[in-house]
Amino acid sequence: MTQSAAKTTEAPAGIVALEQLFPKGARLFDDELILRIAPSGIRFQVWLWSPTWMRNGIFRLYERLIPGVWAIFCCRKRFIEDKAQDAVQAGVKAVVNLGAGLDTLVYRSPALQELPAWEVDQAVNVATKQAGLVRALGAVPERVTQVAIDFDHEDLAETLAAHGYRRDVPTLFIFEAVSQYLTEAGIRATFEYLAGAPAGSRLAFTYVQRSFLEGREVGELKLLYKQVVQKKLWLFGLDPDEVADFLLPYGWHVLEHVDSAELAARYIPDTGRTIQSTAIEPVVYAEKR
Ligand SMILES: C[S@@+](CC[C@H](N)C(=O)[O-])C[C@H]1O[C@@H](n2cnc3c(N)ncnc32)[C@H](O)[C@@H]1O
Repeated sequence: MTQSAAKTTEAPAGIVALEQLFPKGARLFDDELILRIAPSGIRFQVWLWSPTWMRNGIFRLYERLIPGVWAIFCCRKRFIEDKAQDAVQAGVKAVVNLGAGLDTLVYRSPALQELPAWEVDQAVNVATKQAGLVRALGAVPERVTQVAIDFDHEDLAETLAAHGYRRDVPTLFIFEAVSQYLTEAGIRATFEYLAGAPAGSRLAFTYVQRSFLEGREVGELKLLYKQVVQKKLWLFGLDPDEVADFLLPYGWHVLEHVDSAELAARYIPDTGRTIQSTAIEPVVYAEKR
């Protein structure tokens, strides 16, 4: 399963890259770096669809096939970037991006520029990211450490420690669009690790609603449901009502729990565009006490 999950990093990266084809000010989210670090397939698509009519066509196609998914990919990145700033103001001194894929947060966020960061993912994605960073920046910045792991089968504490991460430092943990791919054991092991984070640490994570995974609320996302649930790529979900109680035993307290309607209301109007949003994947910002 992790082999298939590894391939999923290109989905958000592809949408974020295509979003850059909209003019600044009309974008949900600015990420110039993704255009430079993305693998050649994504860069080719961006080149191919760069004429305005092609860009609009591909956007409409996404909106028809997987309505609202474009917006949640971009809006949650905006939200997490906002929370990164908040976390730094609150005193975090390091960043650990769990299942970072091709996400560029630690490079693009002005608030995170001075902090040491660990980007953790499956070996194949770590290699792709490293190659992209070397191509775009000449090298992986010294303050960023790339870490290969399989959350379902390897020990996060040992692996991060072996890469120089100190557990006594208040840290911003990102766990974006990853929890759904893990087995129950992988989820439990990850949150047991997070339970050991020092007070003052922050966590931004997304989860898929259990009602979607169980096929009770699929709505217009039948294609997505077929691709990710029926093919057993997405395994883990939560009900919004149980999120706070899920986190509490691990010592994490919810600061913000934002659904798609709220994300859309925060970030879409400024673009001046009509963009759909979908409810399946809320985002949570929590504090370790
Ligand atoms: C949809 S991508 C999200 C990437 C990134 N967080 C983002 O939002 O742009 C899911 C990521 O989780 C990683 N992942 C899934 N299962 C994993 C596992 N068992 N161990 C390590 N990483 C895993 C994948 O390799 C992939 O990079």
